Amino acid sequence: MRINEAVALVTGANRGIGRALVTEFLSRGAVRVHAAARDPRTLEPLVAEAPDRIVPLTLDITDPAAVTAAAEAAPDVTLLVNNAGRHGMGHLLEMDLTDVEAVMRTNWLGTLHVLRAFAPVVERNGGGAVANIVSVGAFAGTPAMGAYPASKAALALLTQAVRVDLAPRGITVHAVFPGPVETDMLRYATGHLKSLGDVPTASAADAARAIADGVEAGDEEIFPDPFARQVQECLRTDPKGVERLLLSRD
Ligand SMILES: NC(=O)c1ccc[n+]([C@@H]2O[C@H](COP(=O)([O-])OP(=O)(O)OC[C@H]3O[C@@H](n4cnc5c(N)ncnc54)[C@H](OP(=O)(O)O)[C@@H]3O)[C@@H](O)[C@H]2O)c1
Repeated sequence: MRINEAVALVTGANRGIGRALVTEFLSRGAVRVHAAARDPRTLEPLVAEAPDRIVPLTLDITDPAAVTAAAEAAPDVTLLVNNAGRHGMGHLLEMDLTDVEAVMRTNWLGTLHVLRAFAPVVERNGGGAVANIVSVGAFAGTPAMGAYPASKAALALLTQAVRVDLAPRGITVHAVFPGPVETDMLRYATGHLKSLGDVPTASAADAARAIADGVEAGDEEIFPDPFARQVQECLRTDPKGVERLLLSRD
């Protein structure tokens, strides 16, 4: 996928990694970027940076009608980034089930809604790419992190499955496994942990650059920061060691 020929759509584009991806795609010459967010007012500062190339789009990925409307409003997409996601810290045996359901409904089911709506759009435009922002959290059931690891493990398997379905339709599917990236989500999660341990963090801009590099290189799995690459190496050499790496963070 050549980003300088792409029309991208990024969900959760108003802040964090999503916002950094919009900026990165524009700097690589993307034709246009549809920046999707639940509250369009939160997109205003971003859109002001390049009003001719950023198209704001209202989208709550858990609302099927809104997802259908988004696919009609953005019929030119060739690169879809499923970035929107939520966290809900807590221990699964005790925490409020509302938080558990919200995390699964957003990270897994919401992403599936978007995939179902936009795969035909990308196909009609001659093919392209989808990148799902998963997490290294998908590789271990960290106890303090509620449903988040399970939601991301489910998303990783969804990503593998649709990769097979979409390949003959000319669409490559990338799974992105970030480690800790300096965003509101990381601040929220670390606020609930005793310590993050001795773990390197990455800026959202650096993570976005590595994600764009991976998409352009056609990498099926993208580990976009130093801690993620540590996990990737551990998966290769000592899969059980990944649990120790990730479970130490509670
Ligand atoms: N930061 C990390 O360390 C890290 C590590 C691994 C993976 N990730 C993943 O990276 C992605 C981006 O996270 P981030 O760190 O940039 O977090 P963030 O700063 O908390 O941003 C999350 C984004 O998702 C949006 N969102 C949440 N629920 C949504 C919904 N139902 N519909 C549409 N948008 C929704 C939020 O919109 P609102 O502003 O409206 O809430 C916000 O734009 C997530 O999938 C996250 O799981 C992050």
